[in-house]
Amino acid sequence: MDETVIIELLAWESAQPLALAVRFDVFVQEQGVPPELERDELDASSLHAVARFPDGSVVGTGRLLPDGHIGRMAVADSARGQGIGGRILEALVDRATELGHHQVVLNAQCHAQPFYMRHGFVAEGPIFDDAGIDHISMTRTLAKAKA
Ligand code: COA
Repeated sequence: MDETVIIELLAWESAQPLALAVRFDVFVQEQGVPPELERDELDASSLHAVARFPDGSVVGTGRLLPDGHIGRMAVADSARGQGIGGRILEALVDRATELGHHQVVLNAQCHAQPFYMRHGFVAEGPIFDDAGIDHISMTRTLAKAKA
């Protein structure tokens, strides 16, 4: 677990210059998602987790939509397997809890299903295609926020 990574939750205006490069590297370059599908109008209304090393370099991101959906989870290839993706996910879940959501939902790429299961998400429904990648819907029920 890399404890030195700092996770911040930012509005799109602040997150965009930080998060776009890692999203482009992971989804467009690595996974072949068309660039026009990578960005959408939901970015502007979402909260974005941005993970940075103390030197400022961005290693990961993810977003929480106003309706409690989580998406665009990405960690730079060189930084995976150190718990950074897990910390991004938990930061987004914590914020969803604070905002009063009863559950969070995401469309997981099937290969990442074990990652989300380890964080309490349960798969439901059929596997479906999105941008040429197999996905499955997953949900995590949230505890009530502490007063
Ligand atoms: N296949 C199988 N297991 C995977 C996996 C995959 N594609 N991606 C992550 N995991 C598992 C790893 O086996 C690892 O388990 P371990 O610690 O027992 O070895 C664990 O998840 C990694 O957890 P963590 O270090 O917290 O996550 P991370 O920083 O590696 O980030 C992702 C996880 C999914 C965000 C990262 O792998 C990523 O950016 N992948 C490419 C983009 C992507 O698929 N995003 C998800 C879209 S739904």
